[in-house]
Amino acid sequence: MAAKQRFLVVTGTGTGVGKTVLSGLLVRRIIQLGRTIRAFKPLCSGGRGDALALEAASGGAQTLDEINPWHFEAPLSPALAARLERRTVTLEAVSAHILQHSKQSELTLVEGAGGLLSPLTVDGDTRDLIVRLKARPLIVASNRLGVIHDVRATLGCLPPSLRSGVPVVLMAPAAADASTARNARSLSEYHPADRIVEIPRVSEEIQSGARSPSVALNRKLDQILRLLAS
Ligand SMILES: Nc1ncnc2c1ncn2[C@@H]1O[C@H](COP(=O)(O)OP(=O)(O)OP(=O)(O)O)[C@@H](O)[C@H]1O
Ligand SMILES: [Mg+2]
Repeated sequence: MAAKQRFLVVTGTGTGVGKTVLSGLLVRRIIQLGRTIRAFKPLCSGGRGDALALEAASGGAQTLDEINPWHFEAPLSPALAARLERRTVTLEAVSAHILQHSKQSELTLVEGAGGLLSPLTVDGDTRDLIVRLKARPLIVASNRLGVIHDVRATLGCLPPSLRSGVPVVLMAPAAADASTARNARSLSEYHPADRIVEIPRVSEEIQSGARSPSVALNRKLDQILRLLAS
């Protein structure tokens, strides 16, 4: 493994919180900054949309099967969907695939499935993959009522040595609620304020790369990348 190589695992408080949106933005930003990155969504279930989004973000540098070597029909956790198809995927196989295909890159981004503890493989979850890859985690959450609990519960499940440094990214929900403008400040009572980043709604054009992010959004993405490098 190259000395400078870094592994980043994008996980979160659950499904549908914005992990793929953020992953795509980060991949495009890293490429724009002239750095090399490989992205993976090793296990997909119920469609390969996340892997397709990462393939588009990678600008053709990676094939779909490299980004996503395992995919299952049922829209369930990958572990359960695999079992329904009588297939077995182990953490060892997942980490071996990622290591094999990321040798040339400075940064490797891996999107988990669901939340930190959602069943991923036959023998583990995204937390186990973080430990195995010695990766930096990033917690994504939807900035809505209940997020304080969700983030605190997720932080509490991280290995203690990774807890205080982890970036927490609050993704703006489609419709803000009374808590949305207050959650970052409330959360700073439990987690360092400089590690909490709020990402606004991002248009389809920006998500797909048809339009560039604003200077303000790029600043936030750079802040996340700095936190991950520190
Ligand atoms: N900041 C945002 N701006 C615009 N849309 C967003 C934003 N965050 C999330 N979304 C939308 O919310 C939905 C879920 O987001 P996304 O697919 O990134 O979640 P996920 O955590 O990757 O889900 P999964 O667990 O299925 O992988 C998508 O339709 C996405 O476009
Ligand atoms: Mg996703």
